[in-house]
Amino acid sequence: MNREKVLVTSALPYANGKIHLGHLSGAYLPADIYVRYKRLKGDDIIYICGSDEHGVPITISADKEKVSPKVVIDRFHEQNKIAFEKFGMSFDIYSRTSLPVHHKTAQEFFKCYYDQGLLIEKKSLQFYDEKAKMFLPDRYVEGTCPKCGYEEARSDECEKCGSLYEPSELINPKSKITGETPVLKETSHWYFPLGKYQERLEKYIDEMNEKYGWKDNVLQYCRGWFKDGLKDRAYTRDLDWGVKVPLDGAEGKVLYVWFEAVLGYISATKELSEQRNDPELWKRYWQDTSTKYLAFIGKDNIVFHTIIFPAMLMGWNDVKDAKYLLPQNVPANEFLNFEGKKFSKSRGWGVDVIEFLDMFPADPLRYTLAANLPENKDTDFYWKEFQGRNNGELADILGNFINRTFTFAFKHFDGIVPQVGKLEKIDNDMIELLKSYPGKISGLIERYKIKDAVFEMMNLARAGNKYFNDSEPWVTVKKDKEKCAAAINICLNAINTLAEIFEPVVPFSSGKIFKMLDTEKCSWEKCGELNLKAGHKLNQPEILFTKIEDKMIEEQINKLGKVETEVPQDEEITIDDFKKVKLKTAVVVAAEKVKKSEKLLKLQIDLGSEKRQVVAGIAKSYEPEQLIGKKILVVANLKPAKLFGLDSQGMILALDTSEEGKVKIIEVDESISIGTAAK
Ligand code: MF3
Ligand code: ZN
Repeated sequence: MNREKVLVTSALPYANGKIHLGHLSGAYLPADIYVRYKRLKGDDIIYICGSDEHGVPITISADKEKVSPKVVIDRFHEQNKIAFEKFGMSFDIYSRTSLPVHHKTAQEFFKCYYDQGLLIEKKSLQFYDEKAKMFLPDRYVEGTCPKCGYEEARSDECEKCGSLYEPSELINPKSKITGETPVLKETSHWYFPLGKYQERLEKYIDEMNEKYGWKDNVLQYCRGWFKDGLKDRAYTRDLDWGVKVPLDGAEGKVLYVWFEAVLGYISATKELSEQRNDPELWKRYWQDTSTKYLAFIGKDNIVFHTIIFPAMLMGWNDVKDAKYLLPQNVPANEFLNFEGKKFSKSRGWGVDVIEFLDMFPADPLRYTLAANLPENKDTDFYWKEFQGRNNGELADILGNFINRTFTFAFKHFDGIVPQVGKLEKIDNDMIELLKSYPGKISGLIERYKIKDAVFEMMNLARAGNKYFNDSEPWVTVKKDKEKCAAAINICLNAINTLAEIFEPVVPFSSGKIFKMLDTEKCSWEKCGELNLKAGHKLNQPEILFTKIEDKMIEEQINKLGKVETEVPQDEEITIDDFKKVKLKTAVVVAAEKVKKSEKLLKLQIDLGSEKRQVVAGIAKSYEPEQLIGKKILVVANLKPAKLFGLDSQGMILALDTSEEGKVKIIEVDESISIGTAAK
């Protein structure tokens, strides 16, 4: 068999917020369905994703919460990773752009362009907030678009009409940090000469489109860009959060997030290589011309994946021996709206994935979203439609067909697949239909017509029900058992086919069906055949889809538009996580200042069973002598560390005070003996 080698990426979501249903429909679910299907077909595929952890969206969120960007990215990376898992996303890796491997990769690319003299250093006027004393990159400034008059345009890019302009062209600019009118101040940046690549990019896209059929929405978008002419684009920003510009004298400057985030796909694949202990893995997918590379994204990311990223790869490939593949296709989706409006966290409009999956299982959501993907135009998620698809399609069509067949097989054939003996036209028609299915679904998914594929999948379940009805096994069981057996055999085999072709869409349920059938998936091409042989024993059926009551749906609709005031939530841990922390009482027996450090004190503490040295950041709050004899609480099983070259074995618990930098040690009651464990 001819195994295709495929590299699939989905846009790296910013780790500054929770994934919502719109994200799923745009770039994740369609890719996951595609990838799962390819795996069933036996193709050699890897699926790469991860968090985009730099750029202004992250620093804005951090500023709002008054925490460091690291706190924000750690929280959302973890949450989004879990949300994706619960939703059944089957990434081979979910990496992060804050990892050293990514910083290194991104810097390598920058250096490659810099060294070949490609980058243009330009002085330009950028908005500067005199009150906040900082340059204001793109999203920190809002104003009126000089092209279309949209009032919430960013400093160099309008979301509404998609045009790019110089910050100085923005009308009535306002700083998002202080609300002040920013001034324009000179700064120097390196620019990537996109225009240089325009001709080659146009050719590349034409060629790919001719060979592989790009989507119209994507082509139209690109043509718009080419028509305006590609301009130099700033590769760096004045910001301290991000990948540092790897040049002397470039302090305070980082790479523009888009020029490094797209490279996150490559670094994530390198990380996967590392994880799998297969150092060449990433090269096989990125640099071997037998691979096809597909980049799944939402429409707001089109220019970055069809123009900027390919131009960057060309810029590398022109001078290096090891050349990267350009995307063979970029099947971007339009947007999913929510009950007729845009998703908006601030207006309480929409649901995030975790919240959704706390109430409903993943498969009905996957099915509903897949059946209504914004492949060619924006679509909407409606709660009522979700209920309808779950109750009327998954439960009443697919679930019902499986359930009635199993019930019948257990009642009349002891849960054993009966003989397929006597076949009539109606049976042969059904057998033919089953056989046609793998090819039919392949044809659609290979052309990214996932919505149509899902429709066809459910049609097979519809056909199964019709076949069951028309063959009337409840009649033939009395009159013509052989005929009855044939019908039940074919129905069970149809269920087997359904389990396989539906797997990319409803993987959890598909797994249950295979378990009920006591089989596993087979080769895709053969999954429409009568693979379950007579005599095969079935397992007891279980419930696949539960109906959703009107009340549940009404509750959800009533919640819409009501904004809950947001308290940043701490990540929850389990009792077992907490139990890992061993807290014990100890007494301070000696304390002294650490030379050259304003913050640290070196303490000797007695835990009863042993004595230890702990270096604690409490010098601004206590004089060493004050501490001697105090009974304190320490984390006793903290990994030893070196602070200022001194060994520290444990951590002392203290509380923040209202005074900046000062803490108060937690003191334990006199009556407690040292070495006592806290629970
Ligand atoms: N973080 C961007 C977003 O959420 C997408 C980045 S895609 C990448 O819109 F390729 F640049 F990583
Ligand atoms: Zn505009």
